[in-house]
Amino acid sequence: MTRLRAHAPGRVNLIGDHTDYADGLALPMAIDLGTTIIGERTGTDLHLTSEQYVDTMRCALPVAGPLDRLEPAWSRYIAAVAGDLGITTGFTGRITSTLPIGAGLSSSASLELAAALALGFAGEPLELARLGQRAELAAVGVPCGLLDQLSAAFGREGHALRIDFATTTIEPIPLPDDIEIIIIHSGVERTLVGSAYAERREACERAAAVIGPLAERTVADLDRIESPGLRRRARHVITECARVRAAAEALRDDDAEAFGALMVESHVSLRDDFEVSLPAIDHLVDHLCASPGVLGARVTGAGFGGCVVAATRPGAIADPTALTGRGWRVRAAGPAAVEPIRD
Ligand code: GLA
Repeated sequence: MTRLRAHAPGRVNLIGDHTDYADGLALPMAIDLGTTIIGERTGTDLHLTSEQYVDTMRCALPVAGPLDRLEPAWSRYIAAVAGDLGITTGFTGRITSTLPIGAGLSSSASLELAAALALGFAGEPLELARLGQRAELAAVGVPCGLLDQLSAAFGREGHALRIDFATTTIEPIPLPDDIEIIIIHSGVERTLVGSAYAERREACERAAAVIGPLAERTVADLDRIESPGLRRRARHVITECARVRAAAEALRDDDAEAFGALMVESHVSLRDDFEVSLPAIDHLVDHLCASPGVLGARVTGAGFGGCVVAATRPGAIADPTALTGRGWRVRAAGPAAVEPIRD
């Protein structure tokens, strides 16, 4: 029996949040924190242990019954992946993760993709990403876009990924050597399940029903939306897509200052127009932005808690854990992959 190691990175979104499900643009990067599954394809059930959690997953194949009753909760993602793949050969192994869970760094997408590769998925990266997205919906009912899964499936060392969700075009953009990416946990735990994520997505759909695809519109089109609340949601998506285009240009032009300023504008838009930030996060962003050598900072991912991402001059933040106890200096990492372990 061949033992194998499957690994999928988490991601940090540098700019472009709540745009993926509106066919907009984003600029994430896969990071050198992620989920690793080591084990072998054997037997007829899934038997997985986790380094982080005491609970063990035991699940007979084929997966039957509603996934929301499965315990431990993390096993729902794996069962959803197994169900989607339709596998009948089991897997015995162990999961380890260096990602904080539920912090806006795509711990669930990372688990879905690592599980898919461990359990035998052997298709194209785009299909892998789509499988992960379907598993997320099946496992926990979150109608997420493709941002997290595409970032993990298409990660490139040293590069951010400019993703256009209307065409599913992914363009790697080299990150300049003089920009460091720092992630700081706000200390506020978040979960997408039961949050206002689905409500935000629905608001964007209602706005698009009035003025057409938000990513193709300008702020001038907003006058046609009557409800002030809906107008603000749409304004975030329209302006955020414009910021992603400008941020990708700024990276190409080696204009770190412009890149940082766009991150800050993005945070303000997520805070005021999209209303997915929290006081603790705003405070952290303000504090970081006032620190020497910080180019810009913003909430990252879905919001409602979780992490802040900052772009800084090298060494500007000597110890990323100093502020809240949890922080990371991250590098852009390669894609999800599986390999046999030869002892
Ligand atoms: C979560 C979702 C993504 C995306 C972000 C916000 O991470 O899984 O699809 O919508 O929120 O940008």
